[in-house]
Amino acid sequence: MAATDRTARHLELLTDTIAAVNSSLDLDVVFERIAAKVTSALEADACFVYLYDETDDVLELRATHDGRFGDPSHRPRMHLGEGITGTSAAEGRPVMIAEAAHLDARFVGFPNLPEDEYESILAVPVHARDRLEGALNVRTRLPRAFGEDEVALLTAIAGQVGQAIENAKLYEQTRARVSELESLAVQEIHHRVKNNLQTVASLLRLQARAIDDPAAERALEESVHRILSIAAVHDLLTTSHHDHVDCAGLIGRLEAMLGQGLGGREVVSTLQPVVLPGQRATAVALVFCELFQNALEHGRGRISVELVRDGGSIVMSVGDEGQGPPPGPRQGLGLTIAAALVREELRGRIDLRGKAVVRFPAAY
Ligand SMILES: Nc1ncnc2c1ncn2[C@@H]1O[C@H](COP(=O)(O)OP(=O)(O)O)[C@@H](O)[C@H]1O
Ligand SMILES: [Mg+2]
Repeated sequence: MAATDRTARHLELLTDTIAAVNSSLDLDVVFERIAAKVTSALEADACFVYLYDETDDVLELRATHDGRFGDPSHRPRMHLGEGITGTSAAEGRPVMIAEAAHLDARFVGFPNLPEDEYESILAVPVHARDRLEGALNVRTRLPRAFGEDEVALLTAIAGQVGQAIENAKLYEQTRARVSELESLAVQEIHHRVKNNLQTVASLLRLQARAIDDPAAERALEESVHRILSIAAVHDLLTTSHHDHVDCAGLIGRLEAMLGQGLGGREVVSTLQPVVLPGQRATAVALVFCELFQNALEHGRGRISVELVRDGGSIVMSVGDEGQGPPPGPRQGLGLTIAAALVREELRGRIDLRGKAVVRFPAAY
């Protein structure tokens, strides 16, 4: 090959490498492309690209000229200083052996990597800002002394590979940070919503105390409970890492909140875990609030609460030892709100004969 041809080829390879590095943030894709291009441009028989894993202090084979070892569980790994490529990485400089590389004292064979088929090797370390990030090598089956220009070229390519690794790491860190911040922001919003709702409830409660009319006072007190029920959902959303709430925990809180100071009525609950998105959980909280308030206010004796899964349905019931709610249409505001939420938000049905039973699909 004429010298100018060779230089042109090297330049083209370097350009291609830069393009490959910028083509994807998926390191495996970038490595495969580089390995294939290096092999053909240097007229070599093989090219191996290794990634340095700082935690385990090993070099792991990540790409080859022909796409072998794609299976992540069978990737050859070697320690720094182990083998010829490991030596090059440990010493931070190129290592070239023109022939009989497998007879070199530093050679280490891998059972699933038939390296003794190659006579020559040129291995270079991969750095990014002076930090070791990996290694790469080219191999030929026939003896070959790589020229100084080829060593320089492979070193330049290693610099690009280092850049690719750094880019991928930065991208990964940024993505992790963004999703962390997003979830913090969402939690903060739920927290503020909860606090604001509690403030509103306190204001209404103050007003309830300042009023002489018992009916108006009761109406305000019921509104306070509705607002605090929604606040309970936001409180749980603050601590959960998703936009979901476990309704068993939610109902447990509401029982404690609504039952406060109401004459020592016994409450027996059977609550199975039922995880729902925030909006449906809010409907569950409000419906439960109405039914439980009614049992406290209009019912008698022990109150039994159930939240269970029944196939694809969820059943929530509130019963007491009295007559239970009226089955007919003689409803007040509380049961009207409950019926509307069950129908529209939960897409279910409410049955008021003897005790209140709400049944709705777990998902729709
Ligand atoms: N658990 C219950 N036991 C007896 N009566 C009930 C029960 N739940 C509801 N009721 C009756 O149904 C009516 C309507 O309830 P609701 O719509 O919640 O309005 P409110 O509680 O403001 O009266 C109540 O006034 C009460 O007479
Ligand atoms: Mg009521």
